Amino acid sequence: MITTSIEQPDDIQFDETLRPQTFGEYVGQEKVKKNLDILIQAAKHRGEAIEHVLLYGPAGLGKTTLANIIAKELNVNIKTTSGPAIERVGDFGSILTNLQDGDILFIDEIHRLNKSIEEILYPAMEDYKLDIIIGKGPSARTIQLDLPKFTLIGATTKLGSLSNPLRNRFGAIHRLEFYTNSEIKRILERSGRILNVNIDDSGLEKISTCARATPRVANRLLKRVRDFSQIKNHATINATVAIEALEMIDVDPLGLEPADKHILTTIIEKFGGGPVGLGTIAAATSEEIKTIEEVYEPYLIQIGFLTRTPRGRMATEAAYAHLGIKYTPKDGALF
Ligand SMILES: Nc1ncnc2c1ncn2[C@@H]1O[C@H](COP(=O)(O)OP(=O)(O)OP(=O)(O)O)[C@@H](O)[C@H]1O
Ligand SMILES: [Mg+2]
Repeated sequence: MITTSIEQPDDIQFDETLRPQTFGEYVGQEKVKKNLDILIQAAKHRGEAIEHVLLYGPAGLGKTTLANIIAKELNVNIKTTSGPAIERVGDFGSILTNLQDGDILFIDEIHRLNKSIEEILYPAMEDYKLDIIIGKGPSARTIQLDLPKFTLIGATTKLGSLSNPLRNRFGAIHRLEFYTNSEIKRILERSGRILNVNIDDSGLEKISTCARATPRVANRLLKRVRDFSQIKNHATINATVAIEALEMIDVDPLGLEPADKHILTTIIEKFGGGPVGLGTIAAATSEEIKTIEEVYEPYLIQIGFLTRTPRGRMATEAAYAHLGIKYTPKDGALF
């Protein structure tokens, strides 16, 4: 799906080209930026490492970008890894011992760290100590190594999946929000400049409303619309060109794709609008639970098409209206 907020192989180089390098270039998330800037200035002033930072929020909103900007502003090295990539205790030990004072260790998808790695992380984060066990059986002993005073930046799309002990060891926890239309427009404007794309305000407006309030999606749509306009020999991308291109790739005016609509119509037509459990929706639509939860659902909830209730997901009246299905309210369905 084109509007998936999850990083695709195609995105990686593209993301790099368009990735903001400074707070100045990083659009929106004003509160988070301000807090991080204070943290950075204070740490610089004291000549210390900043406290550990946890960034959470849906995919493609700029967590990785922010981690890299923090490193740049602090003028320190950043070592990037991810929860599922760290398999063995020994590997993680060597990552930690190879850091230098002040360095940033960025762990993406930190909610997917395995338990044994997490346990090493606790003393490392708290006291900059690494406990290693030497030998086996009765003669085994533990030695403790001092680690450099590093900063851990963790990123996750699922704060709820993080264990409490791990979460509590972060000094600063920030949630990234979906972007407003005008912020997405600014991001598109900047990307257009970098990519040398001729796009007018009406074109920017059109793409921004389809971008699911997500920078990664915005940039990807811009690329697709640009390709389309080149093939069709349009000198400038205006609203008409953008609409034509977006229709061709099956993205509707709210940025919904057939898969989103399939989920909504399934809830409405097969389950009377819900509430229906995530597992049941997944089975009925042949989508994976994880994909529904992390890709489709956050935006559908954000635009008020889906609600989460204790008994499952429900399609809202707005979703019925968007799909052109007649809405009949159910008594007490919300509870
Ligand atoms: N605030 C922003 N201003 C401008 N561009 C942004 C901003 N945030 C993200 N982007 C763009 O969106 C792309 C995706 O951002 P990023 O990789 O940081 O997202 P993420 O939150 O780490 O996603 P994931 O959860 O998939 O790892 C970046 O390459 C960048 O080009
Ligand atoms: Mg990322």
